[in-house]
Amino acid sequence: MSALFTPFKLKDITLRNRVAVPPMCQYSAVDGFANEWHQAHYANLARGGAGLVIVEATGVSPEGRISPACLGLWQDEQIDGLARIAKNIKAAGAVPGIQLAHAGRKASANKPWQGDDHIAQNHPDAWQPIGPSDIAFGAHLSRQPEQMTIEDIARVQSDFVAAAKRALEAGFEWLELHFAHGYLASSFFSTHSNKRNDAYGGDFSGRSRFLLETLSAVRSVWPDHLPLTIRFGVLEFDGADEKSLIESVELCRLFKEQGADLMSVSIGFNTPEANIPWGPAFLAPVAQRIREQSKMPVATAWGVDSPELANKTIEAEQLDLVMVGRAHLANPNWSYHAAKALGVDKAAWVLQAPYAHWLDRYQPAG
Ligand code: NDP
Ligand code: FNR
Repeated sequence: MSALFTPFKLKDITLRNRVAVPPMCQYSAVDGFANEWHQAHYANLARGGAGLVIVEATGVSPEGRISPACLGLWQDEQIDGLARIAKNIKAAGAVPGIQLAHAGRKASANKPWQGDDHIAQNHPDAWQPIGPSDIAFGAHLSRQPEQMTIEDIARVQSDFVAAAKRALEAGFEWLELHFAHGYLASSFFSTHSNKRNDAYGGDFSGRSRFLLETLSAVRSVWPDHLPLTIRFGVLEFDGADEKSLIESVELCRLFKEQGADLMSVSIGFNTPEANIPWGPAFLAPVAQRIREQSKMPVATAWGVDSPELANKTIEAEQLDLVMVGRAHLANPNWSYHAAKALGVDKAAWVLQAPYAHWLDRYQPAG
């Protein structure tokens, strides 16, 4: 039996295997609404056999989107399109998840294939990004954010709560908070972006406050029996990584106390000066440390996309779930190919019957 294809239970939710599709922005929405692109994309991914499919970073407010083409859940009218996505994911046997996000100082950007930089300030599509301090990310995202007031902080937190309620109404069974990749929550935790000298900045407890309060507010409306997870940028690869990891482990323990159920371990991306050691599964040992020291289940992405490697990270108890991102864009049926490569019995049946029957009965010649 391949470890990757064993079920995984978290709260009342059981994934059919340990393969998860991480959130991946499609930059294909208009006014935050899901459309036919999203319907086909997510249905295909779920039909490909993964246990969990997490819908891309979804803005809790219009200003919280990365780009004007990002999904949103700031109004009830946006529920229907997402409910169809959740229903299709579930119908294919996967668990429907969604990531809620606020892009902070990285908001108001062009699509990656149209520059990935901030939209020019005087362009009609641009808006004013906000952040913990008025410090720009730099590099291609050079626009200075407006420093958030205490009222802004409370407003964004209540936007997260309202969006979480809508996600539940839409039928999602797994909620992920985006506390990574240099977006708002991550930028509150990072000393690169947070220079506040009030209760939301300064020492570890000040820089953690926004994240812990947001988690706790969302937990109070997200049902106890459903997983609430955090994608957390635990280090920056900026030369201060041991210090960051010690703080991150401590924060993970506090997340657990506040009701988080799993950590999706990722990178801070709060500074363009990072020196990231890209390579196969390079974050798996970091995730394992978070797992051991915070006593929480963990997942990670970043190059864990060969079946053998993915299986090994589960077998070795480094990870509880493997996030396979870009390899799913290349091949939505990644799980089928992984199951075959790992010698899973009746591998074709990770797919839906109209494909599985034929692939099981007659192997394709190629
Ligand atoms: P960038 O895409 O600007 O990446 C930061 C640096 O990391 C750049 O030097 C870039 O190299 C390098 N890099 C990024 N991904 C890879 C990779 N897979 N392999 C090798 N080098 C890489 O930073 P962002 O902050 O925009 O995004 C951070 C990461 O998150 C990226 O991997 C991106 O793909 C992903 N992402 C996250 C989103 C989200 O969380 N909502 C949305 C979209 C993407 P180079 O300059 O050569 O590209
Ligand atoms: C991403 N990533 C990402 N991460 C996240 O937390 N929320 C998101 O919405 C997105 N969006 C996104 C879009 C696209 C097109 C890519 C390629 C990536 C990061 C993604 O979830 C994953 O961590 C990386 O792709 C690394 O994993 P792989 O691709 O090496 O398996």
